[in-house]
Order: sequence, then structure tokens, then C-alpha cells
Amino acid sequence: MAQDSSLPEFWDTRYRGGVTPWDAAGVPPRLESWLQARKPGLRALVPGCGTGYEVRAFAEHGHDVVAIEFADAALEAARRELGALSERVRKADFFAFEAEPFDVIYERAFMAALPRRLWPQWAARVAELLRPGGELVGFFYFDDNPRGPPFGASSEQLAELLQKDFQLVEDRAIAPSESIPVFQGKERWQVWKRRI
Ligand SMILES: C[S@@+](CC[C@H](N)C(=O)[O-])C[C@H]1O[C@@H](n2cnc3c(N)ncnc32)[C@H](O)[C@@H]1O
Repeated sequence: MAQDSSLPEFWDTRYRGGVTPWDAAGVPPRLESWLQARKPGLRALVPGCGTGYEVRAFAEHGHDVVAIEFADAALEAARRELGALSERVRKADFFAFEAEPFDVIYERAFMAALPRRLWPQWAARVAELLRPGGELVGFFYFDDNPRGPPFGASSEQLAELLQKDFQLVEDRAIAPSESIPVFQGKERWQVWKRRI
């Protein structure tokens, strides 16, 4: 069994085996509230979308959403979940695909899926993919567990990764009732604005 979560095989094995403790089986309530407060028309990216429930949420709120996923079994799950909307999901590697800059990048369980050695590349890539003034929004996982995934960060570590290109403009705890066991008490909703 692949042990390196930077490889698609690692995720294929877990999706095929039905071992997906990160899967929220729906759209997190905090994202739903954020979407309700925004005007439609944003160009949004969902990296490492997995089953991709949020793709439908962005589309139904009138946003031009693109999702990226590199594991075939996750792509199959997204196709089953999204039906016709699965045309919004591309098979691609987050670190290598080409696209025009986005207004929003949505984060959930993607950064935490990457080995920590890849975090500097993740931060640089997120900055590259967002237009100046664009926003990295979503759920960030805070923990110091040596083994993962999920790989947690400290708030200092996350700031160190992002502060060159981003400013933290929103930060709130997620109530346990809005979380799932693997992230409970350890995830926060944050919005990081790309510096102009
Ligand atoms: C822990 S899962 C989270 C899935 C989804 N975001 C969710 O909240 O349920 C991480 C996902 O990221 C995908 N992934 C990891 N590295 C990737 C990469 N470099 N490019 C595209 N997808 C990637 C994996 O295949 C996996 O489906």
C-alpha cells in the first residue's frame, strides 16, 4: 500500500477501500454561510476536491468553479456525486496544471493531505493561482501530530507559509457540531487575502 500521500495511489487505495474519514458527506455549514454572503460570478478553484460536494455548492451560488483531482478513485466518487456537474472536475496535479488566475481558492483537507515537505510549494502555488486581492478561504487543520495525513500545522507555521503573499482577514473556530471526528476541535475557518 502506498505510504506517501503526495502520490495518487495513496488516495486511490483509500477511496477504493472506503477508508475516507475526512469525507464530510456534504457541504460544511460555514462554507454555505460564506457563499450566501457573496455575490455570484467568482472564478473559484477547489484543489484536491475528493468527492467534491462543494463543487455543486459553488455552482449553485452562481460561481464559475473548477475542481482539480489527481486520484482516479476520487474522480469516480466525484462523478457519482456530481452527475452532469462533474464536467467541472479536471484530472490534474495541483502543482502542474495550467489555468488563468482565480478569484477564490477553497481549502478543505487538501493542505493537510500533503506531506509537510510540500507546504512551501503549496503556499507558492496558491499565491501563483490567485489574482491579487483574491482569497484563499476554507478550513485549516491545527495539530502537531507527527504522523499523517492529516498533517496539522501551528498557527505560526501557517503564518510563516502565507504571510509573504497573504493577509489573514478572517479567523474563527468551527463548532464541534459543524465538524467531523477527525478534525473536531482542531479546525478553523480562515480567509487569507492575496496581497496586491
Ligand atoms: C484528504 S482528501 C480531501 C478531499 C476533499 N477536499 C474533502 O474535503 O473531502 C485529499 C485529496 O487531495 C487529492 N490530492 C492530493 N494531492 C493532489 C495533487 N497534487 N493534485 C490533485 N489532487 C491531489 C487526493 O487525491 C485526495 O482526494
